[in-house]
Amino acid sequence: MIPEQKTLWKAAVKAREQAYAPYSGYQVGAALSIEGSEAVISGCNVENASYGGTICAERVAVCRAVAEHGPDIRISAVVLVTATPAPPCGLCLQVLSEFAKGDLPVTLATPTGMHRTYTLDDLLPIRFDNANLEQNP
Ligand code: THU
Repeated sequence: MIPEQKTLWKAAVKAREQAYAPYSGYQVGAALSIEGSEAVISGCNVENASYGGTICAERVAVCRAVAEHGPDIRISAVVLVTATPAPPCGLCLQVLSEFAKGDLPVTLATPTGMHRTYTLDDLLPIRFDNANLEQNP
């Protein structure tokens, strides 16, 4: 059975409670599902005293997904939980796009409920991908 959106939301809310965000005070939780699996994979942001070392919640979840399920995964849904609804940053959209198609649903949510679902195409309409690398003469 494919995990339902509410299951992803609950996991993202829980993951957000683990956020390590002493510098920004901005806690983020993410949860995603992958095609052909019942797994729910979550992540939270992990900040660093060297600010550039900070890793966003979505990228933690994507890295966990690859580490746990291998490199051939396709992400089928993402739910992001913040105090007020906010989209993934550009870097996270790029990383998500490595393992997803343009119709990937990305739901913005808060700890009290779901807000709105966009597709990856909505949020990152023109993407750099491996096809661009292949066009390199
Ligand atoms: N953050 C995420 O976890 N995901 C995003 O898509 C945007 C930003 C985190 C990084 C940092 O810990 C905090 O939010 C403030 O930028």
